[in-house]
Amino acid sequence: MKRVFVNGYGSIGNRIAQFIKDDPQIKVVGVGKFSPDDKVNDAIARGFDVYVPQKRIESFKNYKIKGTIEDAISNCDLVIDGAPGGIGYANKKQLYEPKGVMAIYQGGESVFGDERVSDLLFNSRVNYKEAFGKKHVMQGSCNVTGMGRILQPLREKYGSRLVRFDAILVRRWADLEQTDKSVPDTVEWSPNPHHQDDVKFYMGKDTPLFIQAIKVPTRQMHVHMMSIRFKDMTPNPSEILDLFKDEHGVATLWTAKGTKQIRDAAESMKFSFKDTNMIHIHANMMETIGDTIKMVYSDDQTGIVIPENHMLMQAMLFQKSYEESFSHTESLFHMEEKKKALEAFFAKK
Ligand SMILES: NC(=O)c1ccc[n+]([C@@H]2O[C@H](COP(=O)([O-])OP(=O)(O)OC[C@H]3O[C@@H](n4cnc5c(N)ncnc54)[C@H](OP(=O)(O)O)[C@@H]3O)[C@@H](O)[C@H]2O)c1
Repeated sequence: MKRVFVNGYGSIGNRIAQFIKDDPQIKVVGVGKFSPDDKVNDAIARGFDVYVPQKRIESFKNYKIKGTIEDAISNCDLVIDGAPGGIGYANKKQLYEPKGVMAIYQGGESVFGDERVSDLLFNSRVNYKEAFGKKHVMQGSCNVTGMGRILQPLREKYGSRLVRFDAILVRRWADLEQTDKSVPDTVEWSPNPHHQDDVKFYMGKDTPLFIQAIKVPTRQMHVHMMSIRFKDMTPNPSEILDLFKDEHGVATLWTAKGTKQIRDAAESMKFSFKDTNMIHIHANMMETIGDTIKMVYSDDQTGIVIPENHMLMQAMLFQKSYEESFSHTESLFHMEEKKKALEAFFAKK
């Protein structure tokens, strides 16, 4: 059994810890906390040992702490870093590398420049096996992960018939649980969004992808509006939808009117954390004009990367085949069942 420590217990870390706790092949050493707040007791109540930085131990004196993060890291095979963007790199340099431990980083880090955490940006659908033998790997961010689920099947089927992908990313402002973060009444634009370079990093640098990104005041998922240009006339929308019928982590919804409705459906069906863990193609928004097809899909920001972290962890720790890893992840996340339930809920009338 391998020992895994989850460093950071926010939107992502807390979900990862909760899911891998149920993995019989993994012993969760515990979770790392940085602020002495209610989340410490929440973690303990959920059965996790909580570790804190050596130099902050005094500020946790009123909590039942198990030990220091430094010790937890010495005592594990792999760390899943769930720290805020940029801090993962500092953790790599100060903790993971000196202690020689394997680590998974989240998409707020970078694979470019002096502060890159890895030379691999993971997307299980595209480069699963490349994680074998790596000690430090970055999981793509939510938008970057979701986009691969659309682009890779299209590329496999249509190859050189595809001329260009133009996408507008409409990004949520904050997560449901980030109640300390306000959602201001404005729309912001992001010059040079990292998503374009990140997607090309794993899809290939010549991928004809052009991304623009804005941030809107909602906590309810991201939406991507994508135009796909073909060399000649596009296939029928029904052919495109057929392509995604058996695609894992992609649901096709006909009657959803907005992202909150999908989140509410997930809640009503008792999905853990109200997450769907997938992207949702909005079939009623698909339109073709000559050589261009317009697609809209929403992306469950917090949920989508959690099964991906689990796949990546299995590739790094056990070097399992894709199929074996996939079926083990599925046994914990039940995404096929969730996909069917969502598709039935939002079926064509
Ligand atoms: N939220 C999303 O939808 C989403 C989706 C995909 C990827 N990501 C990426 O996932 C990463 C984490 O994001 P998040 O949304 O989970 O952030 P978050 O909710 O703000 O949580 C960050 C956690 O990191 C802890 N932390 C603070 N300093 C740390 C350090 N030095 N080392 C380790 N942990 C530290 C914080 O601890 P305390 O609470 O104790 O202060 C907090 O629990 C980022 O790279 C982000 O870009 C986020």
